[in-house]
Amino acid sequence: MKLIELHNFGDDGFQKTERGMPSPCIGEVVIKVHAASLNFRDFMIAKGLYNPNIELPLVPLSDGAGEVVSVGNDVTEFNVGDRVMSVFWQDWNENNSNRMVSTGSDAGGVLTEYAVLPKEAILPIPEYMTYQEASTIPCAAVTAWTCIKAANIGSGDSVLLLGTGGVSILALQILKAMDANVIITSSSNEKLEQAKELGADHTINYNENPEWGSEAFSLSNGGVNLVIEIGGESTFPQTINALTIGGHISVIGALSGINVELNLMQMVFKNVHVHGITVGSREDHMELNNFLEQHEIHPVIGKTVSIDKAINEIYGMSSGSHFGKIVIDISDD
Ligand SMILES: NC(=O)c1ccc[n+]([C@@H]2O[C@H](COP(=O)([O-])OP(=O)(O)OC[C@H]3O[C@@H](n4cnc5c(N)ncnc54)[C@H](OP(=O)(O)O)[C@@H]3O)[C@@H](O)[C@H]2O)c1
Repeated sequence: MKLIELHNFGDDGFQKTERGMPSPCIGEVVIKVHAASLNFRDFMIAKGLYNPNIELPLVPLSDGAGEVVSVGNDVTEFNVGDRVMSVFWQDWNENNSNRMVSTGSDAGGVLTEYAVLPKEAILPIPEYMTYQEASTIPCAAVTAWTCIKAANIGSGDSVLLLGTGGVSILALQILKAMDANVIITSSSNEKLEQAKELGADHTINYNENPEWGSEAFSLSNGGVNLVIEIGGESTFPQTINALTIGGHISVIGALSGINVELNLMQMVFKNVHVHGITVGSREDHMELNNFLEQHEIHPVIGKTVSIDKAINEIYGMSSGSHFGKIVIDISDD
């Protein structure tokens, strides 16, 4: 079987490898991976910017979907032939919030034709979804879901999304299914048009309008209820400008830097709620899958490439040229 391993951090650390078929131990399943998807984290891991203490070599990528081909002796929850997707945190569930092990970082990932995962690290794929679509869910969509849940967003609420990457576009799709109002920013007018076609109510080009937060405040008639924050240093002040009184910020990333200068009085007077989000638990993921199934949401895949092009795509993620998710097709058919 073909797989890709990260051997060194930097610009040239991946190696393509061939191995024999794996077998499952107690509590494990082997999955024939059909599709995997990329997250910005995968780029950071490759460069050594995420956690320099990660043990190498590592099979990268947290997010994949495929078919169970064998199960460990004691596994009764899954059967050969089941369609499953990976779970981001292998040990975050209703019985344990002290999560330590994430797929594709602390444990081996899914950029391989056959992945061995603990049974706690997989969930069934909603019936209507393709493998490619399912591969976009474990990190980006679960994160979008927990951000939205943390702020208790519902019909008629306003949400500001920053940029048109994986998390923002999945959040847009979830929010429109909830009948929320969505304002989205981008550096590209073309991407903003695509976001409008997906239902975005208002769009702002953050390069053309540096006061995008204040514009979002006006467009939402008194401020948005939630901003999903991915920018950090260069975006946080505008994010606070965009909020209504009692509004929420779900902080997930810091693409422009981690050192933020805060106007604490503005935060006090706006009664701002700040949530740090790290994807979500198994139960969050299950709840999202039910929601997706109920609304038959098809995640937006901006680009699909074969496993031979996966390494270039991981390094290329920082260009931000994609819209929605990038999927690696690993099926051999
Ligand atoms: N904490 C968590 O649980 C969690 C989970 C998932 C992701 N994240 C983090 O969230 C961030 C986004 O992840 P992703 O997977 O969605 O990334 P992605 O698919 O690579 O999307 C990145 C997009 O962000 C936009 N962007 C970049 N710099 C920006 C800035 N300064 N202001 C506004 N928008 C900007 C760009 O959109 P345009 O091209 O439209 O301008 C870019 O295409 C990353 O930092 C990632 O590490 C965290």
